[in-house]
Amino acid sequence: MPTKTPSKSKKVVKPVSGTSHTQSIESTLPEKRLFKPNKAFAAKAKIGSMAQYEKMYRASIKDPEKFFAKQAEELHWFKPWRKVSEWKAPFTKWFIGGKINASYNCIDRHLETSRKNKAAIIWEGENFEQRTLTYAQLHREVSKAANVLKSLGVKTGDRVAIYMGMTPELAIAVLACARIGATHSVIFGGFSAEAIRDRVNDAECKLIITADGAFRRGTTVELKKNVDQALRTEAINIEGGAHTLGGCPSVEKVLVVKRTGEHVDMFSGRDVWWHDAMAEASADCPAVPLDSEHPLYILYTSGTTGKPKGIVHSTAGYLLGTYLTTKYIFDIRDEDVYWCTADVGWVTGHSYIIYGPLANGATVVMYEGAPTYPAPDRFWDIIERHGVTVFYTAPTAIRAFIRAGDEHPNKHKMSSLRLLGTVGEPINPEAWMWYHRVIGKGRCPIVDTWWQTETGSIMISPIPGAVPTTPGTATLPFFGIEPEVVRKDGTTCKPNEGGYLIIKKPWPSMLRGIYKDPERFAKQYFSDFPGIYFTGDGARRDKKGYFWIMGRVDDVINVSGHRLGTMEVESALVGNEAVAEAAVVGRPDEIKGSALVAFVTLKKGWPADENLKEKLRKHVGEAIGHIAKPDEIRFTDALPKTRSGKIMRRLLRELASTGSVAGDTTTLEDFSVLERLRAGEEE
Ligand code: WTA
Repeated sequence: MPTKTPSKSKKVVKPVSGTSHTQSIESTLPEKRLFKPNKAFAAKAKIGSMAQYEKMYRASIKDPEKFFAKQAEELHWFKPWRKVSEWKAPFTKWFIGGKINASYNCIDRHLETSRKNKAAIIWEGENFEQRTLTYAQLHREVSKAANVLKSLGVKTGDRVAIYMGMTPELAIAVLACARIGATHSVIFGGFSAEAIRDRVNDAECKLIITADGAFRRGTTVELKKNVDQALRTEAINIEGGAHTLGGCPSVEKVLVVKRTGEHVDMFSGRDVWWHDAMAEASADCPAVPLDSEHPLYILYTSGTTGKPKGIVHSTAGYLLGTYLTTKYIFDIRDEDVYWCTADVGWVTGHSYIIYGPLANGATVVMYEGAPTYPAPDRFWDIIERHGVTVFYTAPTAIRAFIRAGDEHPNKHKMSSLRLLGTVGEPINPEAWMWYHRVIGKGRCPIVDTWWQTETGSIMISPIPGAVPTTPGTATLPFFGIEPEVVRKDGTTCKPNEGGYLIIKKPWPSMLRGIYKDPERFAKQYFSDFPGIYFTGDGARRDKKGYFWIMGRVDDVINVSGHRLGTMEVESALVGNEAVAEAAVVGRPDEIKGSALVAFVTLKKGWPADENLKEKLRKHVGEAIGHIAKPDEIRFTDALPKTRSGKIMRRLLRELASTGSVAGDTTTLEDFSVLERLRAGEEE
C-alpha cells in the first residue's frame, strides 16, 4: 500500500495513475498529503474552486436564514413559509407556516420534466434479479401503496413501522407514508423480535409493513416470523388476576410483501398481503400538504442508556438538508448512476438512498444482498454492469475488500466511476489510499462525510470539486454549519488540540427531538455545553481548519459503521439468568473499526465455560440482533469500580485493547479486581 512518506516537503509525488486527470500528491507527513481536486472533475463540478466554496460558506454563516431560504426555493411548496427559522434552545423550527410534502418533492415534481421516464430506482436482487422503476412508475406504486395505507386505517400523524429487506417495496413503503403524512419508523431487518417490540411500542405504531423474508448471503431471514413473535401476547396470572404480557397493543394490521415465497402464518383480520391490497388500490392519491415541521420519521439509534432513542426528523428542514448535501457533496447530475450501499434501516439509507437523491431526480442503484455474495467481487460487478458513477460506502466495507484482495476489483472495468464517498466512522489513511488507488484509479475525488442520525444530513465533508483532501479528515463544514472543537469548559481548542465536537447553531435538518422524551433530548445533547448541540464525538482541528474526527467520547461504539450503545448490550446480557453484572467496551478491530468485548460476572453456581459464552452471545442476538453479539466474552469475578460504584470502563477499554492497564487508577475501589482481570487474560 502506498503509505510511505516522501521525505521532502512540498515535493510533488508521482501520480498514482497515469491519466491526465490524476490528482497530484504534495506531502511530508502522511497527514499532510494533500490531494487537490482533479481538474477535469472541478471543471464540470457545481462548485469548482476553493474560492467559490469559501464565498458560499461565508455567506451561509453570515446569514444562514437568507442562505437556506434561497436554497429552499428549489423545493416544491404547496404554501410558502412565513418565517425562516426559530431557535428556542434546544428546540428549532424551520420554514414556519410552510406546507410541503417530501414524497411530492421526491417524485411528482419530476413528472413534469424530462425525468418522467428516467430511472429513479435500479434495483438488483441478491440472486441477480433486476427491476427498474422510472419516476412515473414509482409515482404509480407509491400512490397505490399510500391508498393501501389509508384503506388499512392509517391517517396523517399515525406511526407506521417498516421492517423489511432491501427491495423496492421498502422505498415505496417509506414514500407512501411520507405521501399521507404517516410518520415512518424503519426498523433494520437485522434486529430481533424483542428490538422490534420495543421500537413499535415506543412509537405506538398502528401498522407494521414487513415481508415474508429477505434474501441475505444465500439464505433467508424470516422477517414475518420475527414480527409475529414481537406481536405475540401471553396471558398470565399475576397475584390471582389475569394479565396480558408482551405484544404490541397499538398494532392493528400487518402488511406483508411476498419476497422469498416461504411459508408464513397469516392471521386473519390482522395480516394482509401487499400484492392483494395493491391489486385493488387506485393509483390516484394526491400528496397531502403537510406542515414544514410535520414529523417525517422516527429512527431509533443507540445512545448512552440501555434504551434506544427515537430520533425525530421534520419534513421541510430534513428534506432541504438531504437535498442540498446530495446536490453539492455528491455533485449530482442527471446522467449520474448513484449508488449508496447502506441499508435503509440506517439513517444513511434514509437520507442518501431515498430522500436526498430522489429529491434531486437522480438515478439510484439499490442492492438487496451481501457485498460478498456469491463472490467477493459483487460490488465491483454491480458498478461495472450498471455503470455506477458515484459510489458511497463505509470504511469497514473498504477494509474487508482490501483483505479480500485487489484481484476482485481488478477483474472489473469501473471507468464509469467519477466520485467516491465514505461514511460511518473515521477512515484510516491506508483504507483511504486503497480506495483512491484501486477503486478510484487516482481519478475520483473521495468525500469523507461526517454526520449522524441526529444531524439528518452531512455536516462536514469536502466539496469534491473545490476542497483539497487528505486521507483521514472529513475536512471542512458544509454550508450553514458551524462546528467547533472545544474543551470541557466550552473554550475553543488550539489547532491540533483534541476536544469535543459541537455545532454552534441549529441547522434545517437537525433532529427535532427524542420521541416523547424532551427531557432526555435536552440532557443528552444540550447539557454538556448549555444550549449548544454536542455531538458525542471527539475531534481536533488542524491549522488549515480541517476537522479530524477521533471517534465517540461517550458510551456509544461504532461496530462496522453501526452504532451500538454499550449499555444496551449490557442490559441484554444482564437479562440472562446466569449474569450478575456486565460491562461492555470497544476494542480496535482491523475490519469492524471496533469490536465488542464484554466483561461478565456470573451468578453463583454458573459454570464459566465456552458453552455459556456461546449461549450469552446468542442471548444478545435475540435481545437486540446479530450485530450486537459481543466478539469476545470474558468472565471475571468482579468489575473495577469507582468508590461511587461506577464501572471504570476506561480501564476495561485499555485492558481489552492493550492487554494491560497503565492509566490512572486512583479512583479504583478494589485494586485487586484489576489484578484478577489481568490474570484472567493471561490464563
Ligand atoms: C461516526 C451515520 C468519522 C461518528 C451517518 C458519529 C464518523 C457516528 C463519520 C454517527 C466520518 C460517521 N468520520 N466518524 N466520516 N461518519 N461517523 O448515527 O462517531 O449511525 O457520531 O450516523 O458515526 O453514527 P450514525
